[in-house]
Amino acid sequence: MSLAAEVERLKEERNAVLLAHNYQRPEVQDVADFVGDSLYLSRKARDADRPVIVFAGVRFMAETAKILNPTRRVLLPDLKAGCGLADAITAEQLRTWKAAHPGAVVVAYNNTSADVKAEADYCCTSSNAVKVVEQIPADREVLFLPDMFLGDYVRQKTGRAMHLWVGDCPVHAKLRPEGLARARAAHPGAPVIAHPECGCASAALPHVDRVLSTDGMVRFAEETRAPEVLVATEVGILHRMERLNPATRFTPIDAGAVCPYMKEIDLADVRDSLALDRYEIDVPPATQERARRSLERMVAA
Ligand code: 13P
Ligand code: SF4
Repeated sequence: MSLAAEVERLKEERNAVLLAHNYQRPEVQDVADFVGDSLYLSRKARDADRPVIVFAGVRFMAETAKILNPTRRVLLPDLKAGCGLADAITAEQLRTWKAAHPGAVVVAYNNTSADVKAEADYCCTSSNAVKVVEQIPADREVLFLPDMFLGDYVRQKTGRAMHLWVGDCPVHAKLRPEGLARARAAHPGAPVIAHPECGCASAALPHVDRVLSTDGMVRFAEETRAPEVLVATEVGILHRMERLNPATRFTPIDAGAVCPYMKEIDLADVRDSLALDRYEIDVPPATQERARRSLERMVAA
């Protein structure tokens, strides 16, 4: 029996739903029940009625799933699937930052640990960060963390003077405006779509047609009639784009933009996760309690 068939069989046996992020390996995406961006998958996890959720993504996504649907058993097939951006701030660092800005509203990107979310007022993802920040009364001071490029982009779109934590994603920070401008010059006429975590996303705006979350990029890819599109994000997303629109060529701005954390999970890990019931992601109940309000605001926005 093929690995994919084993996964299908085990999903039924365990009564499990398999969620996969757009950056996962193609063979993992192909056996998932739902593939999407971090907001879409958070909502799917919140609404999951099966007792087991296998999260083919990274740890913070599995923690979010647990907090939003605490009676489910949440499995992450490889514990090395972390996130360099989520590691950019600890709860202790956030408490110190908050103490320096009493009364400020804290907006945490979903790419943070559960302990950090427990200190936040709002969570957001790349697809609703602008919308979330727009909900905050204009007279309130805002601390935005941990991605300074996403934060700067949101600051530009909303006109809000937010304080930004100086953190970045090691994969996207390398995708800089100069590289985007070079690619654009080398592929005249091809639209450029970029993720807001890209290095200095707001400075890159003149070289970019659309700044979008990963699902926003997939939707653009599906609908475009352009012969070629330049894509500035992690290259795992190209699989879905090529499947959804074989008539367009999707060219990565940097073919080396590979997230090592997102590639930790392979099909054998998914099979073993289901067969051996590993690795359970749990979040202490007190942390869940404190993080839930900000996450509920995220999935509602
Ligand atoms: P999305 O919110 O667009 O899925 O991005 C998540 C992520 O980890 C990007 O690096
Ligand atoms: Fe984290 Fe960056 Fe990887 Fe996304 S691409 S999971 S932000 S390290």
